[in-house]
Amino acid sequence: MSSAIAQLLDGKALSQHIQTSLIHQIQQLEPQKGRPPGLAVLMVGDNPASAAYVRNKERACTNVGITSFGKHFPTETTQAELEQTIQALNHDDRVDGILVQLPLPPHLNAVALLNQIHPDKDADGLHPVNMGRLLRGEPGLRSCTPAGVMWMLQEYGIDPKGKHAVVVGRSILVGKPQFLMLLEANATVTIAHSQTTDLAAITRTADILIPAVGRPGLITADMVKPGAAVIDVGMNRVTDSDGKSRLVGDVDFESVRAIAAYLTPVPGGVGPITVAMLLKNTVESYGKRL
Ligand SMILES: NC(=O)c1ccc[n+]([C@@H]2O[C@H](COP(=O)([O-])OP(=O)(O)OC[C@H]3O[C@@H](n4cnc5c(N)ncnc54)[C@H](OP(=O)(O)O)[C@@H]3O)[C@@H](O)[C@H]2O)c1
Repeated sequence: MSSAIAQLLDGKALSQHIQTSLIHQIQQLEPQKGRPPGLAVLMVGDNPASAAYVRNKERACTNVGITSFGKHFPTETTQAELEQTIQALNHDDRVDGILVQLPLPPHLNAVALLNQIHPDKDADGLHPVNMGRLLRGEPGLRSCTPAGVMWMLQEYGIDPKGKHAVVVGRSILVGKPQFLMLLEANATVTIAHSQTTDLAAITRTADILIPAVGRPGLITADMVKPGAAVIDVGMNRVTDSDGKSRLVGDVDFESVRAIAAYLTPVPGGVGPITVAMLLKNTVESYGKRL
């Protein structure tokens, strides 16, 4: 893999493609099921970034024909109230997917709440049962962002088999499941994190480099192997000198573009694919439910 200027991987276009295919799947399934698929997005508090993500997800649901059962709770909502809501949604036959928008206010225990979601309605693929299925290589709902990265690689013909893939970041949301999915796809995988010594020496050996850290400009051109595929999961809001804010990834886009063979833009890369994977998981659960 080598080129003068990287090909940009268009997450928006891929997401549209997935959504069109979901519309057809829903149209085929709905007469048998007698109802549309349903997704419940639970949000607590008024974090503006979370509110924007939730609006985005609900809009995408409407576009493909998934009914939203969104619930917005005040910041002071208790753990018990949320657990009761999740239990009710677990038993609600109109609901195929449940997700809790993170982060939650500090008095709430996110892990305990995620564990309340029935694994077959776990639209975000974060329940320990689904994580365990991934670890064992069994079918199950997969976490949306790393699954979206794998989808992107496949759609652009970038086969991880035999390649060295480096994931930077080891969160349960992205880095760890990403590691397992790349392994499942027969890559040789290295995972780096905040305690890694000489990050650049490792990233420079990556055929596929996936930064998922949350630090603008972390990955510069000198850290990238010429001809690598760079999938930027990072999403950071930065404020320019004119006071305007914009979204950037973890990659120094312009310098890396000149050396990589493939690069995802931010915005318009992994973000839209993540939303499409959420819809895909919901429709998959819908298809499997009696
Ligand atoms: N596009 C999307 O749809 C999407 C979805 C999810 C997340 N994101 C973005 O992806 C980024 C990561 O999210 P997350 O939830 O995984 O974050 P997180 O839970 O904060 O994890 C960040 C990871 O980066 C590692 N790290 C921190 N500083 C580092 C450094 N200097 N060098 C190497 N590794 C370092 C941390 O290491 P330690 O474990 O050692 O602390 C940690 O494993 C964020 O920007 C987030 O907004 C995007």
